[in-house]
Amino acid sequence: MRESNRIVAETILVLGREIKPGIQTRKLDKIADDYIHSRHAKSAFKGYRGYPASICISIDEEVVHGIPSKRELLAGQIVSVDVGVEKDGYYGDAAYTFAVGEVSEVKAHLMQVTKDSLYKGIEKALPGKHLSDIGNAVQSYAEKNGFSVVRDMVGHGIGERLHESPEVPNYGEAGRGPVLRPGMCLAIEPMVNAGTFEVYALDDDWTVVTADHQPSAHYEHTIAITENGPVILSVSE
Ligand code: MF3
Ligand code: CO
Repeated sequence: MRESNRIVAETILVLGREIKPGIQTRKLDKIADDYIHSRHAKSAFKGYRGYPASICISIDEEVVHGIPSKRELLAGQIVSVDVGVEKDGYYGDAAYTFAVGEVSEVKAHLMQVTKDSLYKGIEKALPGKHLSDIGNAVQSYAEKNGFSVVRDMVGHGIGERLHESPEVPNYGEAGRGPVLRPGMCLAIEPMVNAGTFEVYALDDDWTVVTADHQPSAHYEHTIAITENGPVILSVSE
């Protein structure tokens, strides 16, 4: 899982260098797919329930699962790239939201709070804590900052499949659900909205957008729980 997740992290770094006004999102998909294959791995998303591309690219009010297309990025947008990789039977999954050129204060704040909320959640991934302590920390932090947390999609266990149990919500009361134990691997992925938490899917049956079309940000890491606490696997070193 370190291997597959390292490749995920490297792919996101490669994409970060390419994200700029004028680039087509399908070009980013190609760059990611080529990089993943150069590392002798494959996209975990392509063909998953019929998903037609290698990565997900979600712009502004798109929350997750945006499909790469001919659409060109514009300055002022925020763009989340979500990358999943399978390598030698093990899965990695992570996401990062980038600014295209200069973005509004609200978007910049939304990105920072969403990223910080992910780390607030990761800090709770300790042996002996409960699963819902993660989501409670994410939600408390996001809402304290005036934003809302998406309910309709959740994080997940990960390992020999992309999605394993348990589901990892980004909201809820503390002290509920399974007790966390060393050896568990989780993909924690807060989706935080500037306005309402409500979302719906577009007619392409994939792209999830905010109900009020205000912007949304998404960050994700795959972590392993150890005796010494959480280890983030989706990093490049
Ligand atoms: N990171 C997302 C998830 O865990 C991406 C899945 S996209 C899909 O669900 F195409 F694979 F569904
Ligand atoms: Co995921």
